Amino acid sequence: MLQTDPCILVIFGASGDLTSRKLIPAMYEMHVLGQLHASTVILGVSRTAKTDDQWRDELKPWIAQQAKGFDEAKWSDFAKRIHYFAGDAAKPDCYPALDTRLGEMAQQKGTKGNLLFFLSVAESLYEPIVQQIDEAGLVTEGKRWCSIDPATKSWQRIIVEKPFGHDAVSAASLNRALGRAFEEESIYRIDHYLGKELVQSMLVLRFANSIFEPIWNGQYIDHVQISALETVSVGQRTAFYDQTGAIRDMIQSHLFQILAFVAMEPPTLYTPENVRAEKIKIIDSISVPTADEVAAHCALGQFASDGKEGAYHELAGVAPNSTTETYAAIKVHFDNWRWGGTPFYIRSGKKAAAKRTEVVVQFKPPAANLFRKVTGFGGEAPNRLVIEIAPRERFNLRFEVKVPGFGLRAAAVDMQMDYGNEFKAEPIEAYGPLIVDAMRGDQTLFKHRIEVEGAWNAVMPFLDDRSAKARANIHGNYACGSWGPASADELLGRDGRAWRNEP
Ligand SMILES: NC(=O)c1ccc[n+]([C@@H]2O[C@H](COP(=O)([O-])OP(=O)(O)OC[C@H]3O[C@@H](n4cnc5c(N)ncnc54)[C@H](OP(=O)(O)O)[C@@H]3O)[C@@H](O)[C@H]2O)c1
Repeated sequence: MLQTDPCILVIFGASGDLTSRKLIPAMYEMHVLGQLHASTVILGVSRTAKTDDQWRDELKPWIAQQAKGFDEAKWSDFAKRIHYFAGDAAKPDCYPALDTRLGEMAQQKGTKGNLLFFLSVAESLYEPIVQQIDEAGLVTEGKRWCSIDPATKSWQRIIVEKPFGHDAVSAASLNRALGRAFEEESIYRIDHYLGKELVQSMLVLRFANSIFEPIWNGQYIDHVQISALETVSVGQRTAFYDQTGAIRDMIQSHLFQILAFVAMEPPTLYTPENVRAEKIKIIDSISVPTADEVAAHCALGQFASDGKEGAYHELAGVAPNSTTETYAAIKVHFDNWRWGGTPFYIRSGKKAAAKRTEVVVQFKPPAANLFRKVTGFGGEAPNRLVIEIAPRERFNLRFEVKVPGFGLRAAAVDMQMDYGNEFKAEPIEAYGPLIVDAMRGDQTLFKHRIEVEGAWNAVMPFLDDRSAKARANIHGNYACGSWGPASADELLGRDGRAWRNEP
């Protein structure tokens, strides 16, 4: 494992929800687990005036609530790492004083000029802040293979939160803005789904065993389902959600990352470069539907009223004629040898029947049904692997066995590996290990520029004018607490398949 360098983690958006609820509690967990270098410190930046101590007082209850194993003594120790700087990070006049403060902290703490920026502000501020960081000369490591400046032996890196662009054009623009200030090797496009145990564990399951990979292709796999369903509504930020929708919020970002891990070719070695190269290739091989194919390749929906809350288009903050999807299912094909002809169905929705993030790998039926003349054998496709990512973390492998007793009857049974039971380890907040990876310079679980742009290109037909037909009659087209609109069942039904809708 690479060493964690000492550094200053500079969080832009210190007063915000993400910082308080996720980032700082995750850093506390990393501190308790001994994953932070002793000299590493955090500098929060936002416009509201407050002192270091005031910010610490604000953060303490969040850590007590969100982090595992809050302990007063450990908190006191961790609090010494936390500092605050008030300023408007999108304006140049913020930077002389910020530069001075960073210089003083580096001197006092011995962080050697290593800076890890984290953009935890509204997306519209990403480009202005990156430009100011660059113009203020805070990125000093040189512009080529920049992880380490040979003169100072320091590095500057940046973590960029989702949303990474609003569409293919804005994502490319943001990539260009980042590229003017940072080398690709220093840009960490974060997706907290990749910090989840079961997502990474998929790579180990596929590539550390010899029993799965030989059958992990279209010859043996009938299709794959990737679901991320929630029972909750869109929350308070309705206006924000109305600009986003399920495809942007979940499918283009998180679920395409899971898709890449399920479908990619084996890297030659587990290194950041090799894993990312395979993810780029698999995203690049997604077959983008033509305008005529879009409606038949997707199902879009908005939840109806449940009697307590109005239908989605009736909510305050949502345009009454909004066609933003609160549910989306899309069918993905790859133009490559492994998966040619094998569909991957991806769905995500709000106010669904169950909270569920999972991957279902459905295998084909045996090539010949030896038991076809025996009563009780249906010749169906019994074998499937379900990788449950949330709320439980477990693998389930289903196969047929003989039912004990006279005669020959078969039943499908599940063999299960439950992470909680097996390792007695509670899941930790995904942001912590990912930020520590960035401190180590390990980009394995971060997205490459080409991958992000490829994912946008693949979903654009489901978002722009080409999706107009699929958005017709979207208002209230699925009931709250259901598994989505009827069109989602038809999407698989037309192919002779059905969603796994097991509560
Ligand atoms: N919240 C989540 O769970 C979540 C999850 C995934 C992604 N994200 C993304 O993460 C980003 C942050 O989300 P959030 O929910 O934390 O937003 P938020 O609650 O609105 O916080 C953003 C903070 O940025 C600060 N800020 C605004 N303008 C600034 C400026 N010019 N310079 C410095 N600081 C400035 C504000 O504090 P001041 O008023 O004090 O400046 C504000 O509290 C967004 O892009 C969001 O889409 C959030």
